[in-house]
Amino acid sequence: MKVARPQVTLRRPVPHDLKLLHALDSNQLDSELANPMGFNAIPSSILEDRLRRGDSAPLTGARGSEEFTIESHGMAIGIAGLYEIDLYNRVTSIGVSLASSRGQGLGYAAHVALLNLAFSREGIDRVVGHIKSPNVPAIRVAERLGMTLEGRLRAHRRLADARVDLLVYGILRDEWVTHGSSEKST
Ligand SMILES: CC(C)(COP(=O)(O)OP(=O)(O)OC[C@H]1O[C@@H](n2cnc3c(N)ncnc32)[C@H](O)[C@@H]1OP(=O)(O)O)[C@@H](O)C(=O)NCCC(=O)NCCS
Repeated sequence: MKVARPQVTLRRPVPHDLKLLHALDSNQLDSELANPMGFNAIPSSILEDRLRRGDSAPLTGARGSEEFTIESHGMAIGIAGLYEIDLYNRVTSIGVSLASSRGQGLGYAAHVALLNLAFSREGIDRVVGHIKSPNVPAIRVAERLGMTLEGRLRAHRRLADARVDLLVYGILRDEWVTHGSSEKST
């Protein structure tokens, strides 16, 4: 029997997403897990300005990056991003953060949608993910997506009071076309 895969869509963030961005930004544990630069709470007014201006990456404010609101059944549940899009080397890194509805396959589905989006662009041939070593759900997602563990930077990041390894996962366009062919309908 085939089990239906949870549906998600990615869309441009809009001012109405302020509550979502604020929830993601103010979760210290998640921010430390997900962000390379650790936790650095951003005032609501700045998030609001970025949304109103239509900044391409309103949550992180990262340059050369694009963020998308993840929707499931009409509800905004998280943010997915293509970060440091490098059109010379044709590489981008990815990140997904869910504010709610975790553990239901939606984070995985959002990654599938994000990889489809990344590789639908002519300029991108390689996608990387940087994951702190204690982040088990993110590691499971990367492995299931068919990403390769390409490197382990030892004690490269701080997490709370500890030093943790940073895992570098990568996937090439051809690998996604092959591996992702069964995943693309999400
Ligand atoms: C990482 C994240 C996007 C995963 O999304 P999710 O919807 O919770 O995960 P899914 O339900 O799609 O499950 C993905 C895998 O992780 C596993 N998983 C989920 N939660 C888990 C947990 N708390 N502990 C261990 N494994 C877990 C699932 O079993 C599944 O593994 P499988 O495919 O081998 O069965 C989500 O947890 C999140 O937003 N975390 C905070 C931000 C973050 O760390 N982002 C990643 C930055 S690199």
